[in-house]
Amino acid sequence: MPRALPAAPGGMAISRPAEAGRRAGSVPGFAYSAAMKKSSIVWNKRTLDRFLASPLAVIPGTAMGYAGIADPRERADLIEYLERANHSPPCAG
Ligand code: HEM
Repeated sequence: MPRALPAAPGGMAISRPAEAGRRAGSVPGFAYSAAMKKSSIVWNKRTLDRFLASPLAVIPGTAMGYAGIADPRERADLIEYLERANHSPPCAG
Protein backbone atom coordinates (compact mmCIF):
# COMPACT_ATOMS: atom_id res chain seq x y z
CA MET A 1 0.00 0.00 0.00
CA PRO A 2 1.20 3.54 -0.64
CA ARG A 3 2.48 5.09 2.53
CA ALA A 4 2.41 8.85 2.23
CA LEU A 5 -0.25 9.72 -0.32
CA PRO A 6 -2.44 12.20 1.60
CA ALA A 7 0.50 14.47 2.39
CA ALA A 8 1.85 14.57 -1.16
CA PRO A 9 1.29 17.78 -3.13
CA GLY A 10 2.00 16.04 -6.43
CA GLY A 11 -0.22 13.12 -5.59
CA MET A 12 -2.98 15.57 -4.91
CA ALA A 13 -2.30 17.36 -8.16
CA ILE A 14 -2.62 14.26 -10.27
CA SER A 15 -5.57 12.85 -8.35
CA ARG A 16 -7.77 15.73 -9.49
CA PRO A 17 -10.00 15.14 -12.49
CA ALA A 18 -8.63 15.68 -16.00
CA GLU A 19 -4.97 15.41 -15.02
CA ALA A 20 -4.03 12.65 -17.46
CA GLY A 21 -2.12 14.19 -20.33
CA ARG A 22 -1.13 17.25 -18.31
CA ARG A 23 2.45 18.47 -18.49
CA ALA A 24 4.58 18.08 -15.38
CA GLY A 25 4.90 21.21 -13.27
CA SER A 26 1.92 22.97 -14.77
CA VAL A 27 -0.63 23.41 -11.97
CA PRO A 28 -0.99 27.20 -11.57
CA GLY A 29 0.06 28.54 -8.20
CA PHE A 30 2.16 25.53 -7.09
CA ALA A 31 5.80 26.41 -6.34
CA TYR A 32 7.53 23.77 -8.45
CA SER A 33 11.27 23.30 -8.68
CA ALA A 34 12.98 24.56 -11.84
CA ALA A 35 13.75 20.91 -12.63
CA MET A 36 10.07 19.94 -12.61
CA LYS A 37 9.04 22.97 -14.66
CA LYS A 38 11.76 22.33 -17.25
CA SER A 39 11.02 18.61 -17.60
CA SER A 40 9.17 17.70 -20.75
CA ILE A 41 7.21 14.92 -19.06
CA VAL A 42 3.51 14.51 -19.78
CA TRP A 43 1.74 12.51 -17.06
CA ASN A 44 0.22 9.20 -18.00
CA LYS A 45 0.36 5.71 -16.47
CA ARG A 46 3.74 4.94 -17.97
CA THR A 47 5.50 8.21 -17.09
CA LEU A 48 4.01 8.16 -13.61
CA ASP A 49 5.21 4.60 -13.09
CA ARG A 50 8.76 5.54 -14.06
CA PHE A 51 8.74 8.69 -11.94
CA LEU A 52 7.37 6.93 -8.84
CA ALA A 53 10.01 4.21 -9.11
CA SER A 54 12.70 6.84 -8.51
CA PRO A 55 11.65 10.50 -8.62
CA LEU A 56 15.19 11.88 -8.39
CA ALA A 57 16.52 9.61 -11.11
CA VAL A 58 13.78 10.64 -13.56
CA ILE A 59 13.82 14.36 -12.71
CA PRO A 60 17.20 15.20 -11.18
CA GLY A 61 16.78 18.21 -8.89
CA THR A 62 13.08 17.65 -8.22
CA ALA A 63 11.82 18.94 -4.90
CA MET A 64 9.95 15.67 -4.41
CA GLY A 65 12.35 14.36 -1.79
CA TYR A 66 10.97 10.87 -1.82
CA ALA A 67 12.97 7.70 -2.42
CA GLY A 68 10.28 6.13 -4.58
CA ILE A 69 8.49 2.80 -4.62
CA ALA A 70 10.70 -0.08 -5.75
CA ASP A 71 8.00 -2.73 -6.04
CA PRO A 72 6.28 -2.58 -9.46
CA ARG A 73 3.11 -4.10 -8.05
CA GLU A 74 2.91 -1.49 -5.33
CA ARG A 75 3.28 1.24 -7.97
CA ALA A 76 0.58 -0.35 -10.12
CA ASP A 77 -1.76 -0.46 -7.11
CA LEU A 78 -1.09 3.20 -6.36
CA ILE A 79 -1.64 4.26 -9.97
CA GLU A 80 -4.89 2.31 -10.09
CA TYR A 81 -5.99 3.97 -6.87
CA LEU A 82 -5.26 7.42 -8.31
CA GLU A 83 -7.15 6.54 -11.47
CA ARG A 84 -10.20 5.44 -9.49
CA ALA A 85 -10.05 8.61 -7.43
CA ASN A 86 -10.15 10.50 -10.74
CA HIS A 87 -13.40 8.82 -11.67
CA SER A 88 -15.21 9.12 -8.37
CA PRO A 89 -17.74 11.92 -7.94
CA PRO A 90 -16.51 15.14 -6.35
CA CYS A 91 -17.28 15.75 -2.67
CA ALA A 92 -20.64 17.44 -2.18
CA GLY A 93 -21.22 20.24 0.32
C1 HEM B 1 3.68 8.12 -3.25
C2 HEM B 1 2.80 9.03 -3.54
C3 HEM B 1 3.16 10.21 -4.40
C4 HEM B 1 2.72 10.46 -5.65
C5 HEM B 1 1.73 9.63 -6.46
C6 HEM B 1 3.35 11.69 -6.08
C7 HEM B 1 3.20 12.23 -7.34
C8 HEM B 1 3.77 13.41 -7.75
C9 HEM B 1 3.68 13.96 -9.07
C10 HEM B 1 2.98 13.30 -10.27
C11 HEM B 1 4.31 15.15 -9.07
C12 HEM B 1 4.41 16.13 -10.24
C13 HEM B 1 3.22 17.05 -10.08
C14 HEM B 1 2.94 17.96 -11.23
O1 HEM B 1 3.52 17.85 -12.32
O2 HEM B 1 2.06 18.80 -11.04
C15 HEM B 1 4.82 15.38 -7.73
C16 HEM B 1 5.50 16.49 -7.31
C17 HEM B 1 5.89 16.74 -6.02
N1 HEM B 1 5.78 15.88 -4.95
FE1 HEM B 1 5.07 13.97 -5.05
N2 HEM B 1 4.14 12.17 -5.08
C18 HEM B 1 4.07 11.31 -4.03
C19 HEM B 1 4.74 11.41 -2.83
C20 HEM B 1 5.34 12.57 -2.37
C21 HEM B 1 5.89 12.74 -1.03
C22 HEM B 1 5.91 11.67 0.06
C23 HEM B 1 6.34 14.02 -0.96
C24 HEM B 1 7.00 14.75 0.18
C25 HEM B 1 8.04 14.20 0.80
C26 HEM B 1 6.11 14.63 -2.24
C27 HEM B 1 6.43 15.92 -2.59
C28 HEM B 1 6.31 16.48 -3.84
C29 HEM B 1 6.80 17.81 -4.19
C30 HEM B 1 7.46 18.84 -3.27
C31 HEM B 1 6.53 17.96 -5.56
C32 HEM B 1 6.95 19.14 -6.45
C33 HEM B 1 8.29 18.69 -7.02
C34 HEM B 1 9.05 19.72 -7.83
O3 HEM B 1 8.55 20.83 -8.08
O4 HEM B 1 10.18 19.38 -8.22
N3 HEM B 1 5.50 13.73 -3.06
N4 HEM B 1 4.48 14.30 -6.95
